[in-house]
Amino acid sequence: MAKPNGPRVCIIGAGIAGLTSAKYLKDEGIDFTVLECSYYVGGMWRYAGIDYDEFDSILHTAMFADLRLNLPHPAMELRGYPLPKHMHFFSSAQLYYYYIQRYAEHFNLMEHIQLLQNVTSVRREGNAWKVIHDNVLMNTVHEDEYDFIIIGTGHFSNANVPKFPNEELFKGDFLHTKNYRIPNDYENHRVLIVGAGTSAWDIIIDMLKYAKTVVHSHHSKQNIKTKFPDQYIRKPDIKEFKENGVVFVDDTYEEIDDVIYCTGFSYTYPYLDPSCGLTVNKDHVLPLYKRLVNINEPSMVVLGLVRRACHVVALDAQVHYTTALLKGDFKLPSKEEMMNVWQKEVDNINCNGRPMSDLHLLGDKEVIITQFALL
Ligand SMILES: Cc1cc2nc3c(=O)[nH]c(=O)nc-3n(C[C@H](O)[C@H](O)[C@H](O)COP(=O)(O)OP(=O)(O)OC[C@H]3O[C@@H](n4cnc5c(N)ncnc54)[C@H](O)[C@@H]3O)c2cc1C
Ligand SMILES: *[C@@H]1O[C@H](CO)[C@@H](O)[C@H](O)[C@H]1NC(C)=O
Repeated sequence: MAKPNGPRVCIIGAGIAGLTSAKYLKDEGIDFTVLECSYYVGGMWRYAGIDYDEFDSILHTAMFADLRLNLPHPAMELRGYPLPKHMHFFSSAQLYYYYIQRYAEHFNLMEHIQLLQNVTSVRREGNAWKVIHDNVLMNTVHEDEYDFIIIGTGHFSNANVPKFPNEELFKGDFLHTKNYRIPNDYENHRVLIVGAGTSAWDIIIDMLKYAKTVVHSHHSKQNIKTKFPDQYIRKPDIKEFKENGVVFVDDTYEEIDDVIYCTGFSYTYPYLDPSCGLTVNKDHVLPLYKRLVNINEPSMVVLGLVRRACHVVALDAQVHYTTALLKGDFKLPSKEEMMNVWQKEVDNINCNGRPMSDLHLLGDKEVIITQFALL
């Protein structure tokens, strides 16, 4: 039972971040509501298929048909709800999506989740948070008041698409990974893959089964030892587009039918009013204490803003921390102290000429956060 006079918490989004939060707050009897704009829970893991229905045209996610988990079970398990033992160690994304839905059912989270509620504004007024949400079907607008905000709206929906000279001349098709679904469409095509992040490699493996050539343009210095078939052609960055192909910065040319940009996503929280005190840039959000707490308004946390991390484990640790904070198990340092800690991180990054996105880098520090999650 919710304690009278305890904080009223609003969780925005019902992906892994929002559902984990719901489970932990429920366990502690903290009063909360989850607002989710789609008609399902599980967030980006839902495969929306190639035919969009009325909802999917607005809501479709970046999933593709043949995607498998890129981390093994222990890094993907939602705590307290073991993955089925018979499930493949790197299971298909679609099975994993069903697993997340079962998690929500198992812990009776659905009764706390309002579906089809699109949060359009969060603002700070006095000592309260005002949250405006639209009912996506009925077009009715509601405003609620909360004491604490947990942001779990993810960051794999706003495609980051680069621009190159003479794109308009190119007669082939452009696509971003967000809209990539199945490789069959590329049978015998000459496909250019741009970028060398996780999804680029996933799609290349997918594509090699069908495409005539897979031309791969990137500037990553990572030493990949994989032996690729002859259809795989490595190229440096793009210089410019031509009608039927692409010139690269080493002045070589390749004929291309399709371009797939595997260039990632940009952070976006369109509903955050300036009164929230957060600045959202394409690849970093500031100022955050421990990559999580909004320093200007510490009754708001932003989940999942970590790079080079096991996301599910990191989310679990972040929710664990947030729950303890809400329970009053510990107190945050003063704003000034948090700002000092944050400023040191920024100075460190600037001194070393690193990109600001490194503010969210977990990398080697992950060991610590993982141990914390397993406490
Ligand atoms: C192609 C791809 C493959 C990946 N593969 C792996 C993997 O193998 N292993 C791994 O650990 N991680 C993987 N990830 C990372 C993955 O993002 C995390 O594992 C995790 O699912 C993130 O969950 P989330 O809840 O933060 O975000 P999401 O799953 O994006 O959930 C956000 C939710 O918020 C809702 N929402 C958004 N805006 C609003 C609004 N204004 N109002 C109300 N609701 C809103 C959305 O509808 C959605 O349900 C992958 C990511 C991508 C894109
Ligand atoms: C939610 O609202 C934003 C505008 O604030 C809009 O761009 C978006 O499409 C809406 N999402 C849904 C699912 O209706």
